[in-house]
Amino acid sequence: MDLNNKKLEWNEKYSVGVKELDDQHKHMFDTINELLDAISNNNTEEHLGHIIETLVKYKVFHFATEEKYFEEFHYEEAEEHVSKHKEFNEKLTKMKEKYPTFSVDFAFELIDFLEDWLIDHLMVTDQKYKKCFHDHGLK
Ligand SMILES: [Fe+2]
Ligand SMILES: [Fe+2]
Repeated sequence: MDLNNKKLEWNEKYSVGVKELDDQHKHMFDTINELLDAISNNNTEEHLGHIIETLVKYKVFHFATEEKYFEEFHYEEAEEHVSKHKEFNEKLTKMKEKYPTFSVDFAFELIDFLEDWLIDHLMVTDQKYKKCFHDHGLK
């Protein structure tokens, strides 16, 4: 199965101008791509499950990093942004409930959801803190 067309490629337009956060976003792109490779190469479900777990844990860590800065800088749109992160977590929980046992179908649905959500969140919501973070000297 060739899934290369689903691969995510980093583009400067996704940058939020903060190296730490760009690196985290890039890391998520890489992990999604790794998951696609694992499916293409018919890796075991256990292996796929492991990558997914890593991805989900990383996402939690990433949200916490952004939210730490919101607090530190008294970011105006923090509440709205945090609720978007919560929404993501709820959707993910629902998806997990739908697939009580791990399957490739779950992996595909997850990838589609992650890609749509991640790109949209990066392009719209994350871009909004760019100025605030910069004004506080973060880069
Ligand atoms: Fe965010
Ligand atoms: Fe983000």
